[in-house]
Amino acid sequence: MSGQTSSGERSGIQGAKYDFTATYNRRWPHAYLRTCLSLDYMLPDRAKPIFERIFADYRRIRNKTKLKIIDVGCSYGVNAALLRTDLDLDDLYAAYLDPSGSLSRRQEIEHRAFFRKRGLRDDIQFVGVDPSFRAVRYALDLGLLEAGVTADVETRDLMAKERSALADADILISTGCVGYATEATFARVYEASASSRPWVVAFAMRPFRYDDIAAAFQAFSLETRLVERFRQRQRRFSTSTEREAILKGMAKLGMEDHLERTTGYIYASCYISAPPGDRLST
Ligand SMILES: C[S@@+](CC[C@H](N)C(=O)[O-])C[C@H]1O[C@@H](n2cnc3c(N)ncnc32)[C@H](O)[C@@H]1O
Repeated sequence: MSGQTSSGERSGIQGAKYDFTATYNRRWPHAYLRTCLSLDYMLPDRAKPIFERIFADYRRIRNKTKLKIIDVGCSYGVNAALLRTDLDLDDLYAAYLDPSGSLSRRQEIEHRAFFRKRGLRDDIQFVGVDPSFRAVRYALDLGLLEAGVTADVETRDLMAKERSALADADILISTGCVGYATEATFARVYEASASSRPWVVAFAMRPFRYDDIAAAFQAFSLETRLVERFRQRQRRFSTSTEREAILKGMAKLGMEDHLERTTGYIYASCYISAPPGDRLST
């Protein structure tokens, strides 16, 4: 992002935030999940009932049963795995990380069978957007994702084939990705499916700001709301330096930090964007 200020820098936590990046683009998800477990990363679990509630609202308001979901920062397809099955993150941690668990780094066929046996529902299809192409490949090979866009759309426009993979979406979701992806990515991804007027439900780690992303959606006539009561735990602070930097960043933005100080966990704010005519029950 040369010549621009990233939201990490804008939030004042650049350099102090735990760096997961070495685990993002591997052939297998084990290193990513091990790191997530070590920091008690729980956001996809905590977000699951919120997403399900919004999906139910969407089905009711738009009178649709089959949904096409775009997951921005989809990684190894964790949100798709949780939302298309009854599994939770602990089930995934146990399956992948227990040495006697079934999902080794050798046999992809076992991984596919694991999710098939959990009865992957097909009334929710996922398209992933994430430059970590090995992770997206893994999720595609397992059938968790229907399609994947692995371009870094922070820096370039979508190509025709990528745009058609994103067309006709119902809802864009995102967990743990705001900060890496800015308004540039969200605007490009939304534009590719704007004709179906999708909703957006995104969890942004505090203190990452969302105002530029909300402004990008406003250009598509979406209203964005911060839904305070949907705020969720993301993960533990990794170090005292990270804790101080995050609390300082929050203070700078006037964010109330009672939960972070009390629990030792970082929280994510939930933002919902929808056309003004769509009356969500939330
Ligand atoms: C903390 S992980 C979150 C993964 C998953 N959503 C979850 O909650 O488990 C952040 C993800 O953002 C992805 N990412 C980094 N830069 C991105 C960008 N410009 N656009 C989309 N995703 C990006 C990384 O590759 C990584 O998979």
